Amino acid sequence: MAPRILVAGGAGFIGAATTAHLLARGDEVVVLDNLSTGHADAIPAGATLIEASIGDRAAVASLLSSFKPDACIDFAGLIATGESMEQPGRYFATNVGETLVFLDALIAAGVEKFVFSSSAAVYGEPQFLPIPETHRTAPTSVYGATKLHIEEALSWMARQGTLQYAALRYFNAAGGSPQAIERHAVETHLIPLALAAAAGDAPTLRLFGDDYPTPDGTCIRDYVHVEDLATAHLAALAALDRGTKESVVNLGSGKGFSNKEVLEGIERVTGLPVPVVVAARRAGDPAVLVASNELAREVLGWVPVKSALDQLLGDAWAAYRVLNHG
Ligand SMILES: NC(=O)c1ccc[n+]([C@@H]2O[C@H](COP(=O)([O-])OP(=O)(O)OC[C@H]3O[C@@H](n4cnc5c(N)ncnc54)[C@H](O)[C@@H]3O)[C@@H](O)[C@H]2O)c1
Repeated sequence: MAPRILVAGGAGFIGAATTAHLLARGDEVVVLDNLSTGHADAIPAGATLIEASIGDRAAVASLLSSFKPDACIDFAGLIATGESMEQPGRYFATNVGETLVFLDALIAAGVEKFVFSSSAAVYGEPQFLPIPETHRTAPTSVYGATKLHIEEALSWMARQGTLQYAALRYFNAAGGSPQAIERHAVETHLIPLALAAAAGDAPTLRLFGDDYPTPDGTCIRDYVHVEDLATAHLAALAALDRGTKESVVNLGSGKGFSNKEVLEGIERVTGLPVPVVVAARRAGDPAVLVASNELAREVLGWVPVKSALDQLLGDAWAAYRVLNHG
């Protein structure tokens, strides 16, 4: 029988890409999403949408009694770091409160395999680079703190034998595909904002800080293609099937690019200039974030194959044009 996978947050950027991969290998997929930031039309054909929040215990219980998934991948949550500092209560209520209700309902229904979208934001300011999973965790944002709270709950649950889990700490998700177009409700990510500015669909791009202690003064980040993230989730499910109880794994390309290098790359792949104005630094933005992805290679057998900068930017641009210019 085909595996039955529940994808919470499957109407979002990374969830939709992963759903497409699950369907392509023949899994049965139900997407649970409240569409607060996701898009129903992003859900690949073949998956069934249940429109509800992960914290809606009655809706989740009813779904679990009819669908009976073998495993759950949970992408659902609020993702904007700056917004999390302005609305900490809302971020804790959704990312921690609702996720705990959801976990409790899954466990009560006997769903014991769980893959969680965590984030590089759990590390805060890095003490050294590249960042391995053993690096100290000291989030500098409410958003990062909410992810760490859930990791801690998962670790306790796994140690008590209640569930098996993989927490995947993504660095900067990017790229795109026909199934996965980055269009967050509150867009704060450099690449979609710069593409919109290059296309003339948005005003000048604001570049936050050019006086960081990096070679060109702009922040350096590790971008990982959404398609590579999707394959990592399938690898995480396989690890749970092999009996791995607990894994906490970085997902990054292992290479960093400065904001200026990304903007030059966008000009290269689009052939268009990106209008830029330099603005003040954003609070809580570390100068450099680059993953060590050794553990993902070892534990998941995962290798990013689409995360080279120009491929990732070219795919993001192709997806952007499909969405905005037909
Ligand atoms: N995009 C990144 O660079 C990045 C980096 C690190 C971690 N993450 C994490 O990965 C996950 C997916 O990110 P994304 O970029 O696809 O974001 P997204 O906003 O595109 O997707 C999130 C999805 O979750 C849904 N959702 C939100 N709250 C919900 C709730 N309470 N109940 C049900 N559904 C709910 C939204 O409608 C949306 O479809 C998030 O948990 C995010 O924190 C993302």
